[in-house]
Amino acid sequence: MKIQQQVSLKNLTTMGVGGKAQHFVVAHTSKDIIDAILYARQNQLSWRVLGGGSNSIFSDNLYQGLVIHVQSKGIEFKPQTGGKVHVIAEAGEVWDDLVETCCRKKLWGIENMSAIPGLVGALPIENVGAYGQECADVFVSCQAYDVEEDKIVTFLKDDCDFGYRHSRFNSTDAGRYVVLSVCLELDENGSQCGHYPDVEAYLGGQEAQDPLEMRQAISSIRFSKLPHWDDLGSAGSFFKNIITDKQGYLASVTALEKHISAENLERYKNVCERFVLGDSYKIPTGLLLDVMGFAGYQVGGAAMYETQALIMVNKTGQAKAEDIYNLALQIQQKVKQLTGFELKIEPHMIGFKEDEK
Ligand code: EPU
Repeated sequence: MKIQQQVSLKNLTTMGVGGKAQHFVVAHTSKDIIDAILYARQNQLSWRVLGGGSNSIFSDNLYQGLVIHVQSKGIEFKPQTGGKVHVIAEAGEVWDDLVETCCRKKLWGIENMSAIPGLVGALPIENVGAYGQECADVFVSCQAYDVEEDKIVTFLKDDCDFGYRHSRFNSTDAGRYVVLSVCLELDENGSQCGHYPDVEAYLGGQEAQDPLEMRQAISSIRFSKLPHWDDLGSAGSFFKNIITDKQGYLASVTALEKHISAENLERYKNVCERFVLGDSYKIPTGLLLDVMGFAGYQVGGAAMYETQALIMVNKTGQAKAEDIYNLALQIQQKVKQLTGFELKIEPHMIGFKEDEK
């Protein structure tokens, strides 16, 4: 394990911004991850785990502590009864490569989560999901390092408190566990999950024959709307979707009425009314930002993406972390002012004014 000094984090995050880490280490195994945490503790350094960098935004300032760059590799397939297969992957595997490998083996269960950046270790933390599938649907267990008790623990699905982009790992126990490996249950006998209009159109109204076909459909749709992380810096969805009640939704319609076109208001109402679950309304934040005119809105080098207003991009390639922060703040303030909704940032903001926003 080699501890390096003054390593730039800019190219290790998909947003492509951020200053340097005073101390930095690449962890090639679970043991390296644990050793690095112990090293930080012995040397009284704060520390952060950095995976694929798609969910972390570091400020432009020097990060004083130790950044642990997870690169632990290894995938195991364990056939179970009834065509089920357990896939055990180390935290440092690239998520999208794992999805591809599983699809090629004709294993169903994660194909709709194609073309999502990041590493396997992030999966249970954020309960990653897309197109009607989420981590919790296929999750069997994970191994994690408990930094309070200094031991490796195994969590089964029911232990994880999974919800929409939520788990114990990013809420009650945030910072306590570092995921080392994940076990998912996939299915040789599965079939297409979800029938999104975009997907239907891509498949010409036919059911996907195998997971690879579904993966191709999803990847193609995602990359037609979202920037490819190799071409344009971004961190995926920048804000979480809004969950409100009927009163909150109706108040937002009344507020928007005075500020946006009749056509946009109609679109807002049509989409929002499709996402009602009992008394709970899910308002797609991308839609709200779009009708409020934020698609393409730019502050310094950072902007909201033209064709998906929920995605913030490093438009010029030269954006500062400060631009990202200021753009986020302006949007949060304007949305709050107009609708009363408090937008929550999805990626972790590290080393900013209020620290973790
Ligand atoms: N919309 C607009 N304009 C926009 C953006 C969205 O009108 O600029 C509308 C869309 O047309 C659609 C609705 O808003 O009717 C919802 O948009 P979309 O289907 O693209 O999904 P989303 O709610 O914005 C979520 C996830 C994505 C995931 C998609 C697909 C969150 C915060 N985002 O986005 O996840 O890929 O669903 O399942 O939950 C990510 O986390 O990085 C991510 C990309």
